Amino acid sequence: MSDLRTTQVSVPPDMIDFGIGQPGFDLLPARLMQSAAARRLDGVETSFLNYGAEQGDGFFRQALARFLSDGYDEAVDPDALFITAGASNALDLTCTLFTRPGDVVFAAEPTYFLALRIFADHGLRVVPIPTDEQGMNIQALEDALRTERPTLLYVIPSFQNPAGMTLPMERRRRLAELATEYDFLIAADEVYHLLAYTAAPPAPMAHFTADGRVISIGSFSKILAPGLRLGWIQAEPALLRRFVTSGLVDSGGGLNPFTSALVRVALEEGWQEEYLARLRRTYVHRIDVMDAVLREELGGLVDYTRPAGGFFFWLALAPGMDSQRLQAAASAYQVGFQPGVRFSSRGKLHDRLRLSFAFYGEDTIREGVSRLARLLRVQDPG
Ligand SMILES: Cc1ncc(COP(=O)(O)O)c(C=O)c1O
Repeated sequence: MSDLRTTQVSVPPDMIDFGIGQPGFDLLPARLMQSAAARRLDGVETSFLNYGAEQGDGFFRQALARFLSDGYDEAVDPDALFITAGASNALDLTCTLFTRPGDVVFAAEPTYFLALRIFADHGLRVVPIPTDEQGMNIQALEDALRTERPTLLYVIPSFQNPAGMTLPMERRRRLAELATEYDFLIAADEVYHLLAYTAAPPAPMAHFTADGRVISIGSFSKILAPGLRLGWIQAEPALLRRFVTSGLVDSGGGLNPFTSALVRVALEEGWQEEYLARLRRTYVHRIDVMDAVLREELGGLVDYTRPAGGFFFWLALAPGMDSQRLQAAASAYQVGFQPGVRFSSRGKLHDRLRLSFAFYGEDTIREGVSRLARLLRVQDPG
């Protein structure tokens, strides 16, 4: 039988799967997009239905640059932006243009597990760089640079997936310096930068593009809707040229001109900004709920830092517990999560698990954490 799914995940109705790192269906901006389409589609204009400008629609880039200048609190030049079909596409294209099979990529341990899949597609060898509570450990990075020559370093500077860490400014600066010193590129995945719930993180790695080593990757997936498949790269002009002149856009034209035309309206009208403010309030509320139930139901059994941005709680389990084994038992409790091992390029982190608070509303979060608590209490060796 053919697979008639429309969305990436389809969760059985009785299951609560905190493994899903996506916005809930209730949060997606259907009305906003309907209004944007009503503004934009007059049935006469056809420009956005043709092949797009290679770098991305100029008017859209201008609106995006204004939005980012506000969000980053520093001027962003529209000419420094290349429009992509999301962060995954940006990362994949970066690998296509700048790496060869067998090259080394440095990635934090833990890191976003699906970036590891993209590196595998390109035949890259991942060298894990240890992290601490402030993200990638720079001393460990410098140690690794004594024995390995990376082509690329992949980092999620703010509200990291999965562990939520944010690199302080000093580490960001040092990363950029090391890239110049050791001649590698940095793919900075900044998709959570604008999803800050308490204080703004330090300037994005986009701040350090001048040396032509930093590819700052952003996306509308976490701030508007993943199904738009729309994002951007910010980089120094010569580096950006490589993307703008790639075979991909030479043949297919700029990426997603039609979607860009609609999202341009959302940016120009301030709807994106309003929506993002609403999204932040909703996520803060979901964090409050998840944090409270985790304390009530699992206090003492797990340890974590309350997320200050992004989508995730990253739990450390009591000694002797294994989240992969727990996962095998979890379906009986109708609860799901991502086991830590998925975020390790070395098959480690068995004592960790990731919960997303973005997909479910408050009542479901409560019920799901209770189920998780029952599971953990039964499995706890202590
Ligand atoms: C760190 C990180 N990068 C990239 C992505 C995917 O982004 P996009 O939808 O823009 O491809 C995700 C989504 O979960 C993510 O967490």
